[in-house]
Amino acid sequence: MSTGARLIEVEEVHKRFGGVHAVRGVSLGFDAGTIVGLVGENGAGKSTIGKMIAGLLRPDEGRILVAGQEVRFHTPRDALRAGIGIITQELSIIPSRSVVENVFLGIEQASFGLVSKPALRKRYAELAELTGFEIEPETKARDLRTAEQIRVEIMRALARDARVIVMDEVTAALTFDESERLFEIVRTLRERGTSVVYVSHFLQEVLALVDEVFVMRDGLLVKQAPASEETPKSLVTAMVGRSLDVVFPPRPAVPDDAPVVCSMKGITRAGVVEDVSIDVRAGEVVGLAGLIGSGRTELVRCVFGADPLDSGTVEMLGEPVKIRKPGDAVRAGIAMVPESRKDQGLMMGRSISENVTLPHLDQVSNGGVINGGREGSAVRALTERLGVRAPSIRTLVETLSGGNQQKVLFAKWLFRSPRFLIADEPTRGVDVGAKQQIYELIASLAEQGLGVLLISSELEEVLGLSHRVLVMREGRIVAEFPQGVSQETVMQAAFGEQPTVVPHQSAGRNAS
Ligand SMILES: Nc1ncnc2c1ncn2[C@@H]1O[C@H](COP(=O)(O)OP(=O)(O)OP(=O)(O)O)[C@@H](O)[C@H]1O
Ligand SMILES: [Mg+2]
Repeated sequence: MSTGARLIEVEEVHKRFGGVHAVRGVSLGFDAGTIVGLVGENGAGKSTIGKMIAGLLRPDEGRILVAGQEVRFHTPRDALRAGIGIITQELSIIPSRSVVENVFLGIEQASFGLVSKPALRKRYAELAELTGFEIEPETKARDLRTAEQIRVEIMRALARDARVIVMDEVTAALTFDESERLFEIVRTLRERGTSVVYVSHFLQEVLALVDEVFVMRDGLLVKQAPASEETPKSLVTAMVGRSLDVVFPPRPAVPDDAPVVCSMKGITRAGVVEDVSIDVRAGEVVGLAGLIGSGRTELVRCVFGADPLDSGTVEMLGEPVKIRKPGDAVRAGIAMVPESRKDQGLMMGRSISENVTLPHLDQVSNGGVINGGREGSAVRALTERLGVRAPSIRTLVETLSGGNQQKVLFAKWLFRSPRFLIADEPTRGVDVGAKQQIYELIASLAEQGLGVLLISSELEEVLGLSHRVLVMREGRIVAEFPQGVSQETVMQAAFGEQPTVVPHQSAGRNAS
């Protein structure tokens, strides 16, 4: 397009973290007004590249040029001044500040001196209108859920008229409508000459959105091609170095005499969950489908003791159990892999081992003294089974790639050999290979006699793994289908009427 220099030029860049050579001599570039996709397995180096472009990390070797000029950013703010913003997997909002303050952080003083509150409120309203995000501007950021915090980060990047915005797995926490809206915004940005680096594991979504796609594997750039020439399958082949189809493991029939592991009766929480009863039997995977906001996560949070019930009971193997807090659920043999690894699951500054064993210290200690050997071998066995990629179990969780963090979260909940597993979005943010491992794990846990309740916004995943699918709408169970039901049938039940548009694959992901 232009005769001059490219907007971004990454030249022979390397990045090491201790012994890990995360990025090994990568060169790539793109022009103004292009959307580029960055894909690869967990730990391939995608986020590291994104962070170097945005000044959150500095390359050990190699150069980064912006419009032909070599830049050396010292802080993300330097990068922002050069017109480069980033929205990352690890959020960077300031918890004690309000939403508006977070969105306009830094720009008020820089460009206008003191800006009047009404003026900021007006600009905020414009951004809210543009994005369709509905967040009360005066709320303190710490009171927001993860998904809302991501929305704040998106507005913050948009408020700055950046020339380049790196988006690292942003849609994982957005609803279907919000994702669609974001794609529209990204396309509008492109028309205005802004470039977007889009990192995602949703390959179909990437191909539909981007102009050009870069594939990384083990810190190297292994493929670069126009999106129009690629398919999800061709990308996966490049990502893993061989062709790989996601296959759902076989589902052995649940024996007729299999006991009911968990029986939920009349679970009600005013306004969100209405009189839900579900029996899950040993060896059975029950899928829970429904639109965002249909009450799935709210239901399982009640059952797990994370939120209070208004009425209803839970029985484990026929015995009523009182669950007032998650600890009660864990003792009763219930495990839950929650939606968000960051705010509900992991301590980022602790090791893999500590994260896995902390809720279960009574099992690895003798009279208060932790038995290091027992702990180590149990954690190693689990992390190996889950395919956690890390130098050792002493590695700090914050240094792991996003997908490997998800696997650690799984390990934490499996440590105590539960009887009933609630998996809420178990494969969010994990790559195709790891997905396959998690599918096999869920199937094998069921085969070993666990009951599993599975929530996933990838409808394909729910249908591929479950013996039975329940559909929730407005807090109630509205339909039940046996294995083999079609995606369309389930979506219709979830919408409650004929959807005008038959949702495509990514609709299935977000809307279920
Ligand atoms: N701060 C850090 N300290 C130590 N190692 C790190 C750090 N950040 C990343 N790494 C390592 O660098 C490698 C690349 O990580 P990166 O986060 O770039 O992967 P990714 O492609 O974004 O993966 P994912 O899809 O799981 O998010 C991984 O082996 C990771 O463990
Ligand atoms: Mg990443």
